[in-house]
This record gives sequence, C-alpha cells and structure tokens, in this order.
Amino acid sequence: MKFTNSPVIELVVNNNTLSLQQDNKTMHVGTSVWPGSIVLVKFADHWSSLNPKTPNPNPYSDLLNFSGKRGVELGTGCGVAGMGLYLLGLTDVYLTDIAAVMPALKHNLKKNKPVLKKSLKIAQLYWANSVQIKALSPPFDVVIAADVVYLEETVRPLVETMVKMVAEDGVVLLGYQLRSPEADKLFWEVSGEVFKIEKVPHEDLHPEYNYEETDVYIFRKKKNLIEDEKTVKEDSSS
Ligand SMILES: C[S@@+](CC[C@H](N)C(=O)[O-])C[C@H]1O[C@@H](n2cnc3c(N)ncnc32)[C@H](O)[C@@H]1O
Repeated sequence: MKFTNSPVIELVVNNNTLSLQQDNKTMHVGTSVWPGSIVLVKFADHWSSLNPKTPNPNPYSDLLNFSGKRGVELGTGCGVAGMGLYLLGLTDVYLTDIAAVMPALKHNLKKNKPVLKKSLKIAQLYWANSVQIKALSPPFDVVIAADVVYLEETVRPLVETMVKMVAEDGVVLLGYQLRSPEADKLFWEVSGEVFKIEKVPHEDLHPEYNYEETDVYIFRKKKNLIEDEKTVKEDSSS
C-alpha cells in the first residue's frame, strides 16, 4: 500500500471519490490523513454489502450493515473515516475533534460536499469532557476511532469517552497503529477491562490497503460493564 505526503489524498469508497486536503504546514497531527483511517474505511468498503464484489461468505455482513445506525468519530482529523463509513450507509454521523482541527475538518467537508450530498455534523469534543459528550446525545451504534492512541495521558480519557458513547449492543471500530509503547501498553490494559476485543485478521483487510503495521479492531462492551452501568443508573434515579 502506498501512503503519500501529497497534500491531497483521494480515496474511493462505494464508487465515490473522497478528496482530502492535508495541511502539512500546521504540524498539527489532525490536519493530516493517517493510515488507521484509510485502512479502516477500505476494510469496511471491501466487505460492505453495498459493494457488488464483496466476497462470499461474508463474516462482516452484520457488523457493516450500517443502515439506520448512528455514528460518531473521535479525533476525526480531516474526517476521512467518518465520511467513508457515511458513504457505506452510516446515518446521522458526528465528526468530532478539538478546536484547532475544526478549520481543516470544515474545509474537507465542504470540499467533499458534492460526494457527501448532505453535510455530516461536526462538534468539538475533548475526550472525557462530560458536557460535550452529553451534548451529542449518546449512545451511538458505531463509534469510530482511527490512529488516536499516541499520548499516554490521553489514553484513559479516550477509553472513557468510547465507553460513554457506545451503545450496549454497539461497536467501536478502531484503526490502529503503534505510535508510543507507553500509550500502547496502557491502552490495551484499560480497554481490555471494559471491552471484548476482536482483531480483524490481516487477510481480511482490503488487499490493496493492507499495511503490515496497521490493524483494525472491533470492540464490544463487556457484559459485566453493562450490568455495572445499569446499577449506577438505577442508584442515581432512586
Ligand atoms: C493522529 S491524528 C488522527 C486523525 C484521523 N483520525 C486520521 O486517522 O486521519 C489524532 C487525532 O486525535 C485528536 N485528539 C488528540 N487528543 C485529543 C483529545 N484529548 N480530545 C479529542 N481529540 C483529540 C487530534 O486532534 C487528531 O485529530
């Protein structure tokens, strides 16, 4: 797979071409497109039932049937993962990030308006900010996160946000690449406490977007976490 430093990246999803403008001058990580999002979107495109060439049998048909499902992306950057899954049927999609990334995100949404037709929603969301989380009215059926694990201090807020955002029967779709050994170790420890974790085998990734260092994971809430959340809700309402 080729990743490029070119300011513009084009990605075909469900026969539409997304065009993402990077701003390599800002030095902010959110104004570049990262491999985690591209590999995640192309995995979903490969197995989507909207794709006439989808392999058969399809072990991902339920997972990737996005019809009528709400989605939110955490740390969206230029927005490619959320836009891509929207083109694969996800509805009511929020793209979220910190304030500094909003200009690049808005620019890219505008640039892709002809393909996206309807504009996706954007919101500022600093992980674990409970006011901002509540404002988006969770839960969501699909939480998208790509290349967001690289600073140890943001790992707990990130996992807390995933837990608060995802529905009991929902999924977190994660595009992942190791960026920092410390953040990586903590991330798998903390997320393993609350999520059942499934790694997509590399042979199931899109053949042309199958990069040795980049993985796709599917997280589902652990049953005991769901029970604990119910108890907390009952206690607070009594
Ligand atoms: C490496 S970039 C990945 C961007 C995009 N998901 C992609 O794959 O192209 C990480 C993103 O996470 C966002 N981020 C980092 N820390 C955050 C925090 N505490 N709250 C919200 N977003 C954060 C950054 O602003 C950035 O857009």
